[in-house]
Amino acid sequence: MSCNNKSLLIGNKVVVILVFFLCLVHSSESLRPLFACDPANGLTRTLRFCRVNVPIHVRVQDLIGRLTLQEKIRNLVNNAAAVPRLGIGGYEWWSEALHGVSDVGPGSKFGGAFPGATSFPQVITTAASFNQSLWEEIGRVVSDEARAMYNGGVAGLTYWSPNVNILRDPRWGRGQETPGEDPIVAAKYAASYVRGLQGTAAGNRLKVAACCKHYTAYDLDNWNGVDRFHFNAKVTQQDLEDTYNVPFKSCVYEGKVASVMCSYNQVNGKPTCADENLLKNTIRGQWRLNGYIVSDCDSVDVFFNQQHYTSTPEEAAAASIKAGLDLDCGPFLAIFTGRCGEERIVNGE
Ligand SMILES: *[C@@H]1O[C@H](CO)[C@@H](O)[C@H](O)[C@H]1NC(C)=O
Repeated sequence: MSCNNKSLLIGNKVVVILVFFLCLVHSSESLRPLFACDPANGLTRTLRFCRVNVPIHVRVQDLIGRLTLQEKIRNLVNNAAAVPRLGIGGYEWWSEALHGVSDVGPGSKFGGAFPGATSFPQVITTAASFNQSLWEEIGRVVSDEARAMYNGGVAGLTYWSPNVNILRDPRWGRGQETPGEDPIVAAKYAASYVRGLQGTAAGNRLKVAACCKHYTAYDLDNWNGVDRFHFNAKVTQQDLEDTYNVPFKSCVYEGKVASVMCSYNQVNGKPTCADENLLKNTIRGQWRLNGYIVSDCDSVDVFFNQQHYTSTPEEAAAASIKAGLDLDCGPFLAIFTGRCGEERIVNGE
């Protein structure tokens, strides 16, 4: 696999991430000390991508055109680097809100004016109410608190929740995070909770961005000598369609989620984060995701170093990018994409 092909693709990934980010950030009246296009920063007043009356795609083209290859690469990972010369702060993509804003992810931290957030019951019990308006209402309250914390400078805007894996194997151990075993209930839960989190009132603006995880067939953590990093789920096409993918489809199609996370495991011998059919063809092609696809944390590293799916780390990075991955949780993509040649980068195309 050549590095040149990959260079062309990096531009696309960064466009997806930046379009998304400009839409998200500009929906806020943020009090956060550091954010892109701060009017108080004289430097940014001359930058075209900061003008809110210019169409988003033009602003993105302008921004992409100013970034170096290294700056683009450093924006393919959860801990996205600042670009101080353009007045752009760093951004931590990883926040969690399965049943309330959590401080597990590095993007959100309790403290100071925000000593904690409301902790709703575990999702398996909330799902047992079979009450869709309640699921949406909980999402709305969680995102009210998330937005307040963001405005206070202690939380992110991108939440890697909900977990809508089908709980088919009770030995999994993470069943309480999910809406359970029934594909229809899980599908309705996914769409309702996402609508609550992302908001429906403000047109095409997101209140916060939700993420349905972990795609797909992932309900095993460690059993009989097989852990989640080495698990190869053998699933028929019919079971994928009728069971495991049902909540993810609903999440994207009905819930209009902003993100999907691919899992650690393989499905039928392929790591999900390197499977073009699962990512590019299904999520983006068939279900029409308008947003980003993110890896579970260190998934790309896992399928190289633990599953030995490719023989070099560069091939692993390329495989994930070509499959449709936009953002890597973990540093792997930034390290191994950066080793490829800088020639033939086509800005923003
Ligand atoms: C469903 O939840 C709503 C809150 O969203 C509540 O007002 C309503 O009473 C619940 N319905 C039932 C049948 O419990």
